[in-house]
Amino acid sequence: MEKKFKRTTVTSALPYANGPVHIGHLAGVYVPADIYVRYLRLKKEDVLFIGGSDEHGVPITIRAKKEGITPQDVVDRYHTLIKDSFQEFGISFDVYGRTSSPTHHKLASDFFRTLYDKGEFIEKTSEQYYDEEAKTFLADRYITGECPHCHAEGAYGDQCEKCGTSLSPTELINPKSAISGAQPVMRETKHWYLPLDKHESWLREWILENHKEWRHNVYGQCKSWLDMGLQPRAVSRDLDWGIPVPVEGAEGKVLYVWFDAPIGYISNTKELLPDSWETWWKDPETRLVHFIGKDNIVFHCIVFPAMLKAEGSYILPDNVPSNEFLNLEGDKISTSRNWAVWLHEYLHDFPGKQDVLRYVLTANAPETKDNDFTWKDFQARNNNELVAVYGNFVNRALQLTQKYYDGEVPTVGELTDYDRQTLAEFKDVKQKVEDLLDVFKLRDAQKEAMNLARIGNKYIADSEPWKVIKTDPERVKTVINISLQLTANLAVAFEPFLPFSSEKLRRMLNMTSFEWEQLGRTDLLPAGHKLAKPELLFEKIEDEAIEAQIQKLLDTKKANEESHYRANPIRENIAFEDFEKLDIRVGTVLECTKVPKADKLLCFKIADGLENRTIVSGIAKHYKPEELVGKQVCFIANLAPRKLKGIESQGMILSALNADGTLSVITTDREVKPGSEVC
Ligand code: 2FM
Ligand code: ZN
Repeated sequence: MEKKFKRTTVTSALPYANGPVHIGHLAGVYVPADIYVRYLRLKKEDVLFIGGSDEHGVPITIRAKKEGITPQDVVDRYHTLIKDSFQEFGISFDVYGRTSSPTHHKLASDFFRTLYDKGEFIEKTSEQYYDEEAKTFLADRYITGECPHCHAEGAYGDQCEKCGTSLSPTELINPKSAISGAQPVMRETKHWYLPLDKHESWLREWILENHKEWRHNVYGQCKSWLDMGLQPRAVSRDLDWGIPVPVEGAEGKVLYVWFDAPIGYISNTKELLPDSWETWWKDPETRLVHFIGKDNIVFHCIVFPAMLKAEGSYILPDNVPSNEFLNLEGDKISTSRNWAVWLHEYLHDFPGKQDVLRYVLTANAPETKDNDFTWKDFQARNNNELVAVYGNFVNRALQLTQKYYDGEVPTVGELTDYDRQTLAEFKDVKQKVEDLLDVFKLRDAQKEAMNLARIGNKYIADSEPWKVIKTDPERVKTVINISLQLTANLAVAFEPFLPFSSEKLRRMLNMTSFEWEQLGRTDLLPAGHKLAKPELLFEKIEDEAIEAQIQKLLDTKKANEESHYRANPIRENIAFEDFEKLDIRVGTVLECTKVPKADKLLCFKIADGLENRTIVSGIAKHYKPEELVGKQVCFIANLAPRKLKGIESQGMILSALNADGTLSVITTDREVKPGSEVC
């Protein structure tokens, strides 16, 4: 890093306090942020690490309603659980605040008011669904009805969970309020909007010209937003949970959760440093770095910077290292389907093994693409890397010192060429780790640190001190001295990644403290220095422990399938004449393309034995268009045509809906003539 900044403010996305945290959270945001912060601290840089809970928003109110408790009860419960989980995993926040705090309410409210007074908002009135019985406007999630695409009941106003299509509430057939069950009516409501379109030109230059170094996924997502053209965004909502809009006539309205949440970074800083927080947010010599997941990119790279710029006294982020998603055993992590490894459960099942998870999540970090966590890989990385490479080397060096020198560092004699070569390799690795950490390539940086252990392992294996001791005991002193210096280096290099193991190693080496500057040095442990009693740094994980975890997931899958089928029982019998009304045919896919601006829809040209037809289907998440060309599919041929994204769809392609939400198109088991009837 160039030394033009005096300090760094590091933030990590504030998780919603409506459920516990899982490995996806840890891998995507908190472990990377913690590695980076620990690295800067080791380098003696001035750094502040800000975390906290995001305690507003509709999902929290829905959870509260479901459980018959208040939203405050919900956030109180999960704030503590999440905070404790992070602490257990060594996520070394300087402060872990919450957006329900009075400090945050005041700061966010003042922030809004400043923008309001400066004329930075526009006011717009629009029509939204209103529940006349409950006397409240309805957030999209509070409206349910029939999905216009797959006709499932119980689709939400923002999405049908059955077919995955994004919806707007007005598309639902027979909408109902989830609060009272009443049919909602349209009513006018006023909201405040941040006119992002007015910010587009400076954002374009700031990101696209001046931040080409941002990760490709971040830069690419920003570019595509900017290229589509920015629109004004509402920053208020009709809701009774949140920060009241501080403007006259705004009763019943609160700040939109995505307006107040990023301000939470600032208020949590203020909570910690009431007198000097501004230095960390306003001084141009402060560098601001946001660690987030990919679903948060637009808010951190476009909306929040526009808010900060509109306010006028704040700095803008220097980098926004965002990760893609981590899947679990090939499936998307899902809170509602309980498809996750929850941190508190992991700690229960693998006590004391926080570093193993940290290591595996970093080794598999979804830095450039979505990645998969599997229990087999977890076991292999522990047994073949942590135990067999790092642990093995350290254990040999410490045990031999104990055995031959009663735990005292021996003197170093004349170096051989091999000694010099090994030490030179060590010096290289230090520079490499540093260069990678500076540009947020944390996965590669950890790999380099592990290389250091590989070098050490090879050195001790090649030098065979257990044999040489019989012929040349002086030589063994040098080998052990060098091995111990390498061990001390490893303890320092791994501190950002595996803080618990480094601390254990530091105690065994009897070192007082670590500094990044020590890396590459060969005098960290002077001759005569007394070591503490050695213990194993890592332990093998046996098959039974892994099989138990896999079984737990299989049980979850089974329970999900059962509840899916229970929730979707066989419908009422119908008369044969009703069945006969359906005209189901087989067609051959001639063309298949993505529908622009609709990430769920594919447009098909189908040979149907007559004039060919166009069908739009919501299966883009399940197939690449090219996979379907040439396939025979079954479709309802006499469904009344309807327009989807401006395209007339002449029928419906039939798919099987798996319990996990994936779709598989129905095809024939041998080729038939296009237009053949299904009977
Ligand atoms: O996506 C989320 O989990 C949000 N709660 C992240 C908020 S980040 C920040 F703005 F606070
Ligand atoms: Zn649907």
